[in-house]
This record gives sequence, C-alpha cells and structure tokens, in this order.
Amino acid sequence: MGTGPQHDISLKINGTEHHISVDVRTTLLDLLRERLALTGTKKGCDHGLCGACTVAVDGERIVSCLALAVSVNGLAVTTIEGIGHGDTLDPVQQAFLDHDGFQCGYCTPGQISSAHAMLREHARGDLSAASFEGDRRAALEGHPELTANEIRERLAGNICRCGAYSNIVDAVAAAAKSTSQ
Ligand code: FES
Ligand code: FES
Repeated sequence: MGTGPQHDISLKINGTEHHISVDVRTTLLDLLRERLALTGTKKGCDHGLCGACTVAVDGERIVSCLALAVSVNGLAVTTIEGIGHGDTLDPVQQAFLDHDGFQCGYCTPGQISSAHAMLREHARGDLSAASFEGDRRAALEGHPELTANEIRERLAGNICRCGAYSNIVDAVAAAAKSTSQ
C-alpha cells in the first residue's frame, strides 16, 4: 500500500497517551501491531470474521481489523496487554490457565478480550439471543443467567480453530463466578 493522506490522532492505549500521525486507511489492528508493537492482538482473517483482533474501545469490544484508526481518535483502547497488571493476572486470564482454555493460543487474546468485555455487558444486564432460553424472569429483570449456551452465544464471534470451545466456556463461567463473588 502506498502512502495516503496522513491524519494526526490521539489515543489512550492501555492507559498511555499516544499522539501519532497515521495514513487514513490504517486499521486500528495494523496501528497496534505494526506501529506500536502491541502484537498481543492477533490478525486472523482481517475481514471481521474470526474475532482474533478483538479489543475494547471505551470499554466496548470491537474487531480492530474493521475499525480505521482515525475512527477511534480521542478514545481509550484496551488491548490484551492492558488486561491484568504485570504478573498479576486478570480473573479471565487466570481462568483460561486453570481450565486449559486454549491449545495453540492464537485466538486466545481475542477470546479473553471478548470475554472480558462480555462479562461487563452481562453485568449491566445486556441480553443476548440465548437469554430467554434460561430463566425468563431473570432475563426480563435484566439479570440473564450466564448459562453455557449464553456464554457460547455471546462469544460466537470468536472462532477457535483448535476447537477449545468447551474449555473456553468453562473458563469464562469460572471467571464470571469469581468476579461476581
Ligand atoms: S482478524 Fe479481525 S475479525 Fe479476524
Ligand atoms: S487455541 Fe488455537 S485457535 Fe484457539
């Protein structure tokens, strides 16, 4: 790709301010990986289909391969490097370790970033297509049960080519339990 028009943007990434000039066609994923060396976020399909590139922007999960860097100007981005504190793992990270929620690990940063944001969505009462399969009253009251089906539905955008799904669901269920206590 040749050089295109440049635009100055400011982003807070994992708590650190970045002021950077970017080609307006640069995706957030490429900015993170190629310019800022934050390679924890993975490129799988580069077409919004696999979830490997999931990050949070102002706390909401997005696939960073479909977001232009200029479109998140002024916002706060959290990547897998910003989840947990040094050697102290976030409960979702710990649960993936405890439950063997990965094989090759390529999808794992996206799975963890997605699960991390999903647990916030669930805690604030967001519903999913599976929410009324469980306790309907709880769903109507904005406290849908986090059943295995509910976890699968909410993480359906994150593909694992190794097929570690059952352990991923166990890990997310355990993380949900530990964060709600
Ligand atoms: S790399 Fe972004 S969804 Fe696959
Ligand atoms: S652990 Fe290999 S793709 Fe998910």
